Amino acid sequence: MTNAAPRSAVGIDIGGTGIKGAVVDLTTGALLTDRVKIPTPKGGEPKDIVVTVREVLEQLSPASDGLPLGVCFPAIVRNGRTMSAANVSDAWIGLEAEQLFEQGLGREITFVNDADAAGYAETEFGAAKGASGLTILTTLGTGIGTALIYNRTLIPNAELGHLEIDGKDAETRASYAVKEREDLSWEKWAKRLQKYYERLEFLFSPDQFVVGGGVSKHADHFLPLLKLDTPIIPAVHRNNAGILGAAALAAGPAERIA
Ligand code: BGC
Repeated sequence: MTNAAPRSAVGIDIGGTGIKGAVVDLTTGALLTDRVKIPTPKGGEPKDIVVTVREVLEQLSPASDGLPLGVCFPAIVRNGRTMSAANVSDAWIGLEAEQLFEQGLGREITFVNDADAAGYAETEFGAAKGASGLTILTTLGTGIGTALIYNRTLIPNAELGHLEIDGKDAETRASYAVKEREDLSWEKWAKRLQKYYERLEFLFSPDQFVVGGGVSKHADHFLPLLKLDTPIIPAVHRNNAGILGAAALAAGPAERIA
């Protein structure tokens, strides 16, 4: 069985609105199947989400059968247990989520935070590929997700979207959802982002920032307005980053060495 190490894995990204999955080529980061997307069940209850993840896997079968499986989720994940819940039911707080999925799916999974998966994807296959030093990925969406990656090693569960700035939780001031909700111009939003990234820069002295989330496709409208000492660049994979990162983390480093 020479050269039999899996070069592909399945990634599933659970979000507040949709559950997406695909089989990923771990050498290139390309999707080997169509991306399957099913709406997140109303209320985001654990049992319902497990059922939907099973449906995603069924749609990806047989391409997904027997491959390493990574699942990412918008919460702090410690040793397979979800410790918070953003835009999903509070029933996730303190839940043995990895176990619940493994029982419901009948196979092993690697379970990680969604921003961690996205950050890892960008350093393995995207905007920060080959970067050394500290990369901070931020996803600007419903909330603000963050990932710290130092020399290709992920430091999990950095919840820097919840930094307190001017007495307020940063994501309640500067997420993309807030821009939409308050109908902020790019300039007004950029002022809030400026404060946020300045704080991150001061606290971590990163080598670069990568900005993900759907709004990163409009990066031209707001990144040039930011005045930082640190390079700040848009993510490459946007909506697929969670899938790619979850798959890559599930496979582990050995299988990704060319
Ligand atoms: C959550 C994070 C998550 C981020 C993006 C935040 O509100 O606390 O765990 O990564 O949203 O989904």
